[in-house]
Amino acid sequence: MSSHRNLPYHVPMSDKTPLSVLGICGSLRSQSYNRALLRAAQTLSSPDMHITLHELHEIPLYNDDVYAQGAPDGVVRFRQAIAAADALLISAPEYNYSISGVLKNALDWASRSPNPPLDGKPLGLMGCSPGPHGTARGQMATRQVCIFTNMVPLNKPELLVPKAHEKFDKEGNLTDEDTRQRLGAFLAAFSQHARRWLGRP
Ligand code: FNR
Repeated sequence: MSSHRNLPYHVPMSDKTPLSVLGICGSLRSQSYNRALLRAAQTLSSPDMHITLHELHEIPLYNDDVYAQGAPDGVVRFRQAIAAADALLISAPEYNYSISGVLKNALDWASRSPNPPLDGKPLGLMGCSPGPHGTARGQMATRQVCIFTNMVPLNKPELLVPKAHEKFDKEGNLTDEDTRQRLGAFLAAFSQHARRWLGRP
């Protein structure tokens, strides 16, 4: 039994148990820059965070009739993975100045009652684009989704990766030093944000 049990509930307790972070890639493409960025995050994050990736290939198009009969297995697994995670880290492309359909569809499935697992989840948002804006508009659209789903996104720093084709090698390794440093700083801020929100400083 925990020795912390008798402390008043408002006393913040230092808890350096690694945060379990679920990494979600908003692209299904095998050579996705956004998945490569999540892989880089796995290697550049400090030991206070453990990032596992969850793929969205098994999530069908949302259909309320199907949900009424029972969510498909892939959706159940996705919702369970979100529920089990302390925080979410999304790396997604921008499609037509907005959120990718793959990501929005998955978040729609995860948003449904009962017990929507997105509710109250700390979130880190990042993204890669070969274009000059690095998913700025896609991330803004994703922040809008955070409002009704009640996710709690880190506001600053943002992590936008423009000209992605110049930042990774052919194997998908993040080779650009500036981006590596910005990713490291972003992950440190994300960890602090999630820990503050979870009451685990
Ligand atoms: C794109 N792309 C794109 N890029 C961007 O910066 N702004 C945009 O609005 C769009 N719109 C868009 C729409 C559609 C339908 C596609 C297929 C692509 C390009 C996109 O950033 C590029 O394909 C990325 O490489 C996709 O990310 P992944 O798959 O590499 O992670």
